[in-house]
Formats: sequence, C-alpha cells, structure tokens
Amino acid sequence: MKNSLDSINLKHQEAINKANAEIENKKDEVKNSPYRLQYHFMAPTGWINDPNGLVQYKGEYQLFYQYYPYASSWGPMHWGHAKSKDLVHWEHLSVALAPSESYDSGDVQGYGCFSGSAVVDGEELVLIYTGHVDDKSPMQVQCIAASEDGVNFEKYSQNPVIDNFPSDGSKDFRDPKVWKHEERWYMVVGSKKDGKGKAVLYVSDDLRNWEYKGAAAESDGTQGDMWECPDLFPLGDLHVLIVSPMYGTKNEKTFYVIGDMDYDKGIFTQETCTTLDYGFDFYAPQTLVDDKGRRIMIGWMEKWLTKMPSQEHGWAGAMTIPRELVLEGNKIVKQKPVSELSELRSDYKKLEAFEVEETTTIHELQEQVSETIIDFNINETTASEFGIQLRCSEDGKEKTEILLDLTNKEIVMDREHSGCGEKGISKAPLVVKDGSVNLRIFMDTTSVEVFVNDGEQVITNRIFPDVNSNKFNIFAKDGKLSVNSMESWKLGSVWK
Ligand code: FRU
Repeated sequence: MKNSLDSINLKHQEAINKANAEIENKKDEVKNSPYRLQYHFMAPTGWINDPNGLVQYKGEYQLFYQYYPYASSWGPMHWGHAKSKDLVHWEHLSVALAPSESYDSGDVQGYGCFSGSAVVDGEELVLIYTGHVDDKSPMQVQCIAASEDGVNFEKYSQNPVIDNFPSDGSKDFRDPKVWKHEERWYMVVGSKKDGKGKAVLYVSDDLRNWEYKGAAAESDGTQGDMWECPDLFPLGDLHVLIVSPMYGTKNEKTFYVIGDMDYDKGIFTQETCTTLDYGFDFYAPQTLVDDKGRRIMIGWMEKWLTKMPSQEHGWAGAMTIPRELVLEGNKIVKQKPVSELSELRSDYKKLEAFEVEETTTIHELQEQVSETIIDFNINETTASEFGIQLRCSEDGKEKTEILLDLTNKEIVMDREHSGCGEKGISKAPLVVKDGSVNLRIFMDTTSVEVFVNDGEQVITNRIFPDVNSNKFNIFAKDGKLSVNSMESWKLGSVWK
C-alpha cells in the first residue's frame, strides 16, 4: 500500500510541477491584458471555470477552481488554488490537483479533476472531487485528496471513494458538495435519470466510506435534465439548494430552491424556486460558511459556449465578487456584496435628489472600475421607462443600458451595443419597494454586477467595451425621472 501511495504522489507531483512551471512562464501576458479585471478573482494565466472547495482553513479563506493552465480554452481539468484573509485580496498558490491517475486522467482530451468541495477535518484540509475520464465506464467517480499544510495535496491511495453512480443516477455523476451536520458528513452529487436532473445524497463518518441515502431532490420537469454543482446548506431556519441546470425549460439559469431538509429520510422538500442571477455570466456557484457565521457565495463569472475576447490575451474566466446570502421572509435569498469590498473604495461622490428628462450625462461618474448606488423615486417619476447607460462612447454608438420598465415590471440589461463581447438582453422582475427602486452596481474593466433592492435580484454580465468608452448617462423616456440620491466610489485594484 505504501508503494502505491508513493507512486501516486510522485506522478501527481510531476504533473503539478509542470503546471506551475507553465504558469510562471506565462503570467506576464495576462498582467498586460487590457481586459484584466481589477478586483475580481482571476487565474494567473489560462482558463478557469467553476469555483471549487470554498472553505476557511487555519483562519484563511481558500478558493480552488476548475483550471487549465496550458491554454485559454477548456482542457484536462486541474484545480487552481488561492487564499485570502479578507475575500478581496487573493494570493495565488501552487496548483492543488492535476490529472495523474487512471480515474482522473486518460489519453483523449476529456478527462481531469472535475468540480467538488473542501472540508476541514481536524488538522487536515480535504478535497472531494470528481475524477472524470470521457471514454471510461463509469465515466465519473468521487475521489478525495488531503493536505496538512493547506498547499500540497495527496490523492488517497484507495480512490475512488465512490466508484459508481447510484440507482437514481446515471453516468453523469459529478460535483460533490460535502458538509457536516450533527457530527456526520453529508455529500450531494449532481446527476440525472429519465430526463430529470437530480441531487443524490450520501452520508459518511470518515469521508472515505460513503453510504447511499437516495435522491435528496430532483427536477419537477422544468428544472433541467442534468443538475450540475448542487449545493445544499442551512440558511436561517430552512435549507437552500442551489443548482446549475442543463437544458431547463422554465429555469435555464442557475436557480435556488428554499425548502426543508429531513436528514433521517435524506429528502429535501422544495417550496419555492427562483432564478439566482438573471445575467448571462453566472454559473456553478459555491458557498461556504465562515467563522463569522456568514454564508458566502462565489460564482463563475462567465458561461459555457460564449464569446470570450480575453482568450486572445491568454486567459478566460473569472469569479464574481463574494456575496453574502441572507434569507428574507423565508421566500427570498438576498445577495449582499461582502462588506470587506468597501476596503477598495476611494473618491466618494454624492449627488442629492435630482430630476432627469431625456438623456443626461453625469460628468462626476466616468470611472470604469467603480461602485455606484442609485435610488430611484418611483412615486415622483412620470416616465414609464428610464435607467442608466454605462461605458458609453462619445458618439453614443457603444453603451450598456440598464432599463427599468414600469409597465412590464422588468429590469433589463441590454448589451447589444456593449463592444466586442457576446451580445444579449437580460431581464429580471422589477419590484417597487416603498415607492423606490435601489440599484447597487459594481463595474470592473469587463464586468457589471447589478444588485437590485439590496440583492433581491442580481444581474451579472461580462461586457467588452472600448477602453475610451467611459460616459455614464441617466435617461428617462416620455416623462420625468426623479432620483432620490446617487453615490459613487472608485474601486482600487487588488493586484500589486
Ligand atoms: C460546471 C461543470 C461541472 C464539471 C466542470 C468541468 O460548469 O460542467 O459539472 O465538474 O464544469 O470543468
């Protein structure tokens, strides 16, 4: 057994060294990319997708992620790794996992260490991930790797710890999320059967031996035929299940379900189902609970099969800002940008109540990397459509519009004219609260995240405008818009 462990770690270490050397060689290319984000997490080079293994270990936040360091497109999956004291400034560490074994490596392109999670077990930091090999049967199995220094991970000699899919699943069986409840470990894994996405549940006392409990939840027929990256966790007095569905009809975007979890029966009862983020560039989020008791979520801020202009500069993919999840009235999960982000603020500007008819340029706001809070006074507004235009060019041809449509009760982000990235129109429900609507907008070089009414709805999109498109307009159509107040800060860069 010792021998097999040594050879596993040797092969793994070689693969990691090779990946780390690649990063060292290429990281300057990304530093010079004009699309580089200033305060969103990005890899040093190459491709990233899902956040993995979010956890706090020895007081520091750990962020692992699906990673291919050798190109700016998806390839055999590694786990990149970074840590942070404040969720804002991240230190890149050695690649944590690289494909190296028969259960996570192969001869054809489709293999790797797929998504998963991390837990702290005593002194150990344990990663639980899916070993994927396209042309193998079973194609996806669950594996673990552990570390005592939080940087170097050894794959378990008896991997896989779950070597086949259960009766309620099928060969698509991936993305284990593990958590502790009353001294036992629980794991949900995404799967599918008979056209329905499912989250199947396991239980264990030692993270190595897992007992199958059954399907904890499944699609109602509209929620997708394969569930990727399920995350099930307590929030307030209830539980929340987050799922990134494939081929959903009603919900093709990542959604959350509020419900009740019966741990004895292993069943999660669905009560309400809501889109988590109405933008195009939000997928496969993961949450952790920190030592302040906050449930924090980070998502992949890009999506499969979209145009990614940054690929020309050797990188693709980024993470959203960390968002604290708060249950509101047992019906809504609010997303609040973590308070630590205010460390980045400078250059405060405030405009008191004012009115707009037609389009007005706000000369005080020309920052590309900024946070803006606008409170619209709906009671005093006569226009039925109004909003803002950001990253506008001088000639007005380039712009990204956020439109509030009171007639159709929709908030619309239009990036048909946003530059060289993917186009498209995102829509979220618009709810007027006590006569006003509040928008909190985080802009980075190539991203916009809009938090509506304290995070009840969120829209996340990547945009790739020209570097000179900086104008910020407010507009009203067929009437007057009344604004209660507008505040704005420039946000600093987290890169040294
Ligand atoms: C979600 C996903 C996961 C999978 C990973 C592969 O974006 O498709 O289901 O584990 O990406 O990189």
